[in-house]
Amino acid sequence: MTQATLIDGKAIAASVREEIGRRAQELQAATGKRPGLAVVLVGEDPASQVYVRSKDRTANELGFHSVKHTLPADTAEADLLALIETLNTDPDIHGILVQLPLPGHIDESKVLRLIRPEKDVDGFHPVNVGLLNAGERDHALVPCTPHGSLILLKRTLGADLSGKTAVVVGRSNIVGKPMASLLLAESCTVTIAHSRTRNLPDVIRAADIVVAAVGRPEMIRGEWIGKGATVIDVGINRLPAPELGEGKTRLVGDVAFDECLDHVGAITPVPGGVGPMTIVMLMANTLTAARRQLG
Ligand code: GUN
Repeated sequence: MTQATLIDGKAIAASVREEIGRRAQELQAATGKRPGLAVVLVGEDPASQVYVRSKDRTANELGFHSVKHTLPADTAEADLLALIETLNTDPDIHGILVQLPLPGHIDESKVLRLIRPEKDVDGFHPVNVGLLNAGERDHALVPCTPHGSLILLKRTLGADLSGKTAVVVGRSNIVGKPMASLLLAESCTVTIAHSRTRNLPDVIRAADIVVAAVGRPEMIRGEWIGKGATVIDVGINRLPAPELGEGKTRLVGDVAFDECLDHVGAITPVPGGVGPMTIVMLMANTLTAARRQLG
């Protein structure tokens, strides 16, 4: 028996996107300027190419000014830093995103630290990390995937998450840590679990909210999740699917989705859950950055 509500990330992303489009038009009417986004890709990683194309396309569809810089994999670190300096001072660019991962010879942290915090639409600069952790979220730019995940939670559970018990599985800088900060700011009781956590099933079973961001296909089993819990599955893993034909693959999350349906309260599907929110939140951050810079 299925009792779980499916959290429709596509539909929620579409409604957020509509609002961003409206606000971007208002900004343009007031200032004559469009939000400007620069996306930088170094190398030819196929997954990164797909993401970057999709970011550029969405920005264009929303009527943003969008610039894509594609650099060869052997680009010198100094050349990438010089491009970022140029974008930092370009008045038509309000948001800069450098697609990760970068090739091994480039110091990722050095690159991210050079982006002006006001233009850091990924929310990875230490100034934005610090503002979020200091409870100054309204002055920060917040990382897109956790921000989108929080919106899905609020659309599902209502705006007030205070007092709820949340477990974030995964401690990455891109998802796990900022997700925990956001939930703490919402007055949840937050646990960050990771690969060294003891009794992971028991830790997860105690949670009203489970956010899975470990990058391991279906690692979190249905029986680990408590009855009625809300599950946000950030994982996007590609598995071989010979049953679909030779060489075929399918996408799965970090949670064993089918095992959850008879007892959890709500769950995001993969695909169609968190994924569609991430790019929309990038556009939201670009709009926020533009409003602050033009205001
Ligand atoms: N690579 C995977 N996720 C992300 C992200 O959120 N931002 C950037 N810049 N690169 C990524």
